[in-house]
Amino acid sequence: MPDFAAALPAAFFPSTAPPAYSRADFGPDFQWGVAAAAYQTEGAWDADGKGPSIWDEFVRRPGKIRGSSHGQVATDFYHRWPADLELMRQLNIPNFRFSVAWSRVLPNGTGEVNPKGLDFYDRLVDGCLERGITPWPTLYHWDLPAALQQRGGWTNRGIVGWFADYAQHVAACLGDRVRNWMVLNEPMVFTGAGHMIGIHAPGRRGLGGFLASTHHAALAQAEGGRALRATLPATAQIGTTFSCSHLTPWRPQLARDQRATARANAILNRLFVEPALGLGYPVADAPVLGWLNRYLKPGDEQRLPFAFDFWGIQNYTREVVRHSPYVPLVWAKLVGAAERGVPHTTMGWEVYPESIYHMLKQFSSYKNAPRLLVTENGAAFPDELIAGRVPDADRQAFLRACIAQVLRARREGVPVDGYFAWSFTDNFEWAEGYKQRFGLVRVDYDTQQRTVKDSGHWYAGLLGGKMA
Ligand code: NOJ
Repeated sequence: MPDFAAALPAAFFPSTAPPAYSRADFGPDFQWGVAAAAYQTEGAWDADGKGPSIWDEFVRRPGKIRGSSHGQVATDFYHRWPADLELMRQLNIPNFRFSVAWSRVLPNGTGEVNPKGLDFYDRLVDGCLERGITPWPTLYHWDLPAALQQRGGWTNRGIVGWFADYAQHVAACLGDRVRNWMVLNEPMVFTGAGHMIGIHAPGRRGLGGFLASTHHAALAQAEGGRALRATLPATAQIGTTFSCSHLTPWRPQLARDQRATARANAILNRLFVEPALGLGYPVADAPVLGWLNRYLKPGDEQRLPFAFDFWGIQNYTREVVRHSPYVPLVWAKLVGAAERGVPHTTMGWEVYPESIYHMLKQFSSYKNAPRLLVTENGAAFPDELIAGRVPDADRQAFLRACIAQVLRARREGVPVDGYFAWSFTDNFEWAEGYKQRFGLVRVDYDTQQRTVKDSGHWYAGLLGGKMA
């Protein structure tokens, strides 16, 4: 165990984890990487014909983003990608997950393609390949073209076709060089945070919009998969990603809390994966989802399933759930880590590395589940540059413990064959602005200077063959 261990709470070192491991323990085919997303890093929000996205607009609304920050410059990845990829290569990172900004490719969301927008991703893909880095694009990481929001965005059923067309354009351009694709990033979050509680773009609140956008996102998930399948070579690997958290009842012996936990599990962990498998929406455990029927049209049940080649599991914490009479329809409340007095990150998320193990078990237990990859995992902790170094023992310990839990699942036969750390560099953390730092590489936003954190050096060491 590293010497900083003594200073950290035991939560970082769960006794369930394999004590020490190396890259070799995961086998030669395990995909190691880092992840990022367009709006969080690219900046250049109106460069080269890009149209505005709902995030370009949302950040202008007073009080929505901590510190009134925005992604107009972000980490300036649009201009600095060659240097960032170079750094990635130096850190032994063989896979890079990024997202394509829909409004760069189609400034109005539909219609004319913007050649300069597509060209950016074309060059980025080539830039990865030249450096021996495998590109893993995600088609949608929350930055809907604003022009489509004017037409109702995810609440308009037309989005299913708009999205499939967009998917086809991107696949036609990059498909000769890109093998691994992801359709959506965390649909539960962009529908829930964007349409139910309004803390993300487009900032809507209410059950109707949430359910409409949920059903259309579930359809787009499958139709997007089919659009990729139709356009890409047969060797393409088509996946999609899901947010997930292990859920436990606040008072385990209390039936009320157990039922609330089952409801929360249906909504937070099962809502998008089960329709993809042909199981429909998990209505029996969360009756509120019965209202989704209002948005279903004849034939939709046959359109919701899609046989993905892999699922991306994205996990950061666990949640503790209690029954609540104050949350209508769901009757469940998440009890925060601070309230429970347990170690947590600056996002307020409990440090609970076993969560990733439980989620890998849960998702792999479905009949017909494809192989799994962890497409995001990481932690925000405060860090600073001290004499040229960024000591971030807590992030390093967190990653080390989570990766150990991935190995634990793998050793028990879970078909998990990839791990992508969130994130390569610090970046724009949505409503939280720039205060939350998830990067393996620190960004000084005044100078755009990058400094590899201790956690980044540690990850590079693991990928280079050192014991963790
Ligand atoms: C999941 C999201 O995909 C990503 O955009 C976000 O930054 C991380 N979680 C951390 O909150």
